[in-house]
Amino acid sequence: MAALRVFAPASMGNISVGFDVLGGALAPIDGSLLGDCVSIEQIEQGIEVSTIGTFANKLPSDPKQNIVYDCAVAYQAQLKANNIEFKGLKIVLEKLLPVGSGLGSSAASVVAAFYALNEFYHQALSKHQLLLLMGQLEGQISGSVHYDNVAPSYLGGLQLMIDQPGQQCSEIPSFDAWYWVVAYSGMSVSTAESRRIMPTEVPLATALKFGQNLATFIDASHKGNQALAAQVLVDVIAEPVRGAIIPGFNDAKQAMLELGALASGISGSGPTLFAVTADLAKAQQLENYLKQHYLQTDEGFSHICKIDTQGARREALRGTV
Ligand code: HSE
Repeated sequence: MAALRVFAPASMGNISVGFDVLGGALAPIDGSLLGDCVSIEQIEQGIEVSTIGTFANKLPSDPKQNIVYDCAVAYQAQLKANNIEFKGLKIVLEKLLPVGSGLGSSAASVVAAFYALNEFYHQALSKHQLLLLMGQLEGQISGSVHYDNVAPSYLGGLQLMIDQPGQQCSEIPSFDAWYWVVAYSGMSVSTAESRRIMPTEVPLATALKFGQNLATFIDASHKGNQALAAQVLVDVIAEPVRGAIIPGFNDAKQAMLELGALASGISGSGPTLFAVTADLAKAQQLENYLKQHYLQTDEGFSHICKIDTQGARREALRGTV
């Protein structure tokens, strides 16, 4: 079978109002590939995994410790259950997203791996089966199963997790005019650790506010009411706990709002910060501020993004364009 290469975009989990149940895929407006790539080609036998790319040096040196290896083993088990023969595979992960950034880095690797495997095996598994596998494998890394990164990275758009038999998520309309300015500070935050510090229970008043904000955001998104959607983009669950321990987050968020952002919050479990505006000049102003005041190491970066509507997709093989 022919070699192939797949790209899976970065994603923002939570989007302030939907802890673990809302996520969106990101596409920088300058066309740069913000996400991970996985290439697959057939070999005699076994599973060989290697890594390249800007952030490959942050991954375990033993290829069998790489999540992409686990994805291939899990996919192999599913094929076996479906009586399909598994072939030897050489898999290359291009790690382009920083680990522990809040941009769905592990999800992008998992999504690209499963999407590539399923392309290789001519869609042997259904979209739903594939998404469930993606959630399980990403859960191995982040400490618990949540789909708010894998679903948008796989399917594109803004995805609401509905967790129903046969349907894991549902796409929510996103505002075409909105720019999502994202800035990764360059520090690494472990998702498992930032989940560990979350309270296991919340007061009734917080639960009611959470439900109201999420429901209002979804309703306003369907009705095209940008002002209302932005107004309720407030995190009452995670940000009060996590914001305080992400260096510089609270100050930078305050600055975003003072500079005129419609909303601002933590992307996933951070430290990436996002800010929303419908004005490109404003987006550039917000990005400039974040470049100067929020990036803290040489590995930090920022992008002005739109919501990526495509999700995972095949890309040209390296060296062929
Ligand atoms: N919903 C997850 C969390 C996203 O906030 O822990 C992690 O990227």
